[in-house]
Amino acid sequence: MLDDIAEVLFTRDQIEKRVLEMGAAITEDFAAHAQAGEGIVMVCVLRGAAIFMADLARAVDLPLEMDYMAVSSYGDQAKSSGAVRIIKDLSTDVKGKHVIIAEDIIDTGLTLNRLRQDLLSRDPASLSVAAFLNKDVPRAEEVPCDYVGFSCPNEFIVGYGLDFAERYRNLPSICVLKPEIYQ
Ligand code: IMP
Ligand code: MG
Repeated sequence: MLDDIAEVLFTRDQIEKRVLEMGAAITEDFAAHAQAGEGIVMVCVLRGAAIFMADLARAVDLPLEMDYMAVSSYGDQAKSSGAVRIIKDLSTDVKGKHVIIAEDIIDTGLTLNRLRQDLLSRDPASLSVAAFLNKDVPRAEEVPCDYVGFSCPNEFIVGYGLDFAERYRNLPSICVLKPEIYQ
């Protein structure tokens, strides 16, 4: 797998440290809600955010539910198709609960904005976004994001849950894939 990697952007240790910081920030921001007995649901955008959410949820020192949604925007291509489809819906009713979306990476922002609209229509108490990576690209539309792990360059990123054609998700670090692999 490592032969296909151009560069390691963030190591396992850097990732761990940053995710703990994000968890601490969420703990601080939602402590009063939890204390008031209000529900918190962390929503994982499958499959890319599975590893991130597993770490983030354990870094939050509050009672919360974990639920999973699958959307499709990329197929096996390295470029966004523009269309976002919900493939697997939540098992939980999020009405009246504080929803925190855990997303792996924001590229065009299409996925996240579509998901935000969809979840807002379910009447949550609040909706926030925790994105592990924010790709450094110019965007037509603003993408609201409350917690960001790292900014990353406009390259194809793999590892820590992120894939290319379902590979490289199990790399423990965040890496840039060699362009010849996906071109
Ligand atoms: P967006 O809709 O363009 O923001 O893309 C969102 C989704 O595309 C992310 O949740 C990822 O699953 C996937 N994606 C975007 N950029 C990358 C990348 O560099 N590597 C792997 N997956 C990516
Ligand atoms: Mg994703």
